[in-house]
Amino acid sequence: MKAVVLVGGEGTRLRPLTETVPKPLLPLVDRPILAHVLDHLVAHGVTEVVMSSPYLEETFHPFLEARGDRPTVSWVTEREPLGTGGAIVSVLDRLGDDPFLALNGDILTDLDLTAMLDRHRSRGVAVTIALHRVEDARAFGLVATDPTGLVTAFREKPPDPISGDVNAGTYVLDPAVLRGWDPGTYIWIEGEIFPSLVAEGVPMDGFGSDAYWLDLGTPEQYLRAHADLLAGRVAGHAYDAPWIGPGARVDPSARVGRFVAIGPDARVEAGADVDGTVLLSGSVVEEGARVVRSVLGTGATVGAGASLAGSVLGDGVRVDPGASLDGVRLGADAART
Ligand code: GTP
Repeated sequence: MKAVVLVGGEGTRLRPLTETVPKPLLPLVDRPILAHVLDHLVAHGVTEVVMSSPYLEETFHPFLEARGDRPTVSWVTEREPLGTGGAIVSVLDRLGDDPFLALNGDILTDLDLTAMLDRHRSRGVAVTIALHRVEDARAFGLVATDPTGLVTAFREKPPDPISGDVNAGTYVLDPAVLRGWDPGTYIWIEGEIFPSLVAEGVPMDGFGSDAYWLDLGTPEQYLRAHADLLAGRVAGHAYDAPWIGPGARVDPSARVGRFVAIGPDARVEAGADVDGTVLLSGSVVEEGARVVRSVLGTGATVGAGASLAGSVLGDGVRVDPGASLDGVRLGADAART
């Protein structure tokens, strides 16, 4: 089985973390987001992955090389961003004639891909789209289906907080229905290809499930993914909570909440208080500081006695001792007090 994994987005909503690391390579507890995605694919029989991205292969090369060939990965560099549809259409020549999986590389899910593939085959459809039920669809693309499950309409980002089934960013695609699209041009799969296929009467199935599903697009969702993984809410994952990475040090007098992930070589000093937070590798919470609902980028530091809430610090950013910050995002070149 082959799959295309989309890893080309700019990750603007996760800045400043994504100023230095592409979103798929950001750690999610013990390994990069992309490692979780690839492990999930391998668990469902995928042996070959094509990754298409405007990022240079060099950026991902150390990660891919360290992983070995489970699955084998071939890389295609987009000269300019091709969008979620163009990225797939432009690599069709590497995918053969059988249905393949295509998925966003920034989603944490325990979706049963084997069941999805089985259903795709038994329904004899050209496209199957995984659906996820949400209470507020404003940030997503709604997908309407008829009573048999066939897709009837798409509605991107509704203005009102309505509930419904949204496009979960995981598809089974029959290559034949994509061959008419021009490779090398920017195409949006959700907004262009799928609505046009529905209009042409191409059979598309909506695959609903109660699988865990989270788009890791924002710092809040990134923190939520950690909390859910540490709480054991994602099938196939079991972590100690809090999670303390190799080489990390937590002073015995510090208080560390359950939903905290402390990356390799990070440090929480005496009397510090950390809750609902992700500390990436080598970051430091100094003596007596308090950090809640925040993400500290690689090597970032919260100075002694400072207080940080609902904030994101880019790599190497330092919050001055005694400072008090709430709801800020500080990149490497930002003011820090
Ligand atoms: P934001 O900038 O924060 O919206 O994030 P994003 O750029 O990742 O956008 P979005 O979350 O909508 O992207 C969904 C998926 O498609 C992600 O896995 C992206 O990596 C991927 N993606 C988006 N645009 C492109 C593109 O032009 N080329 C490729 N190869 N992948 C893309």
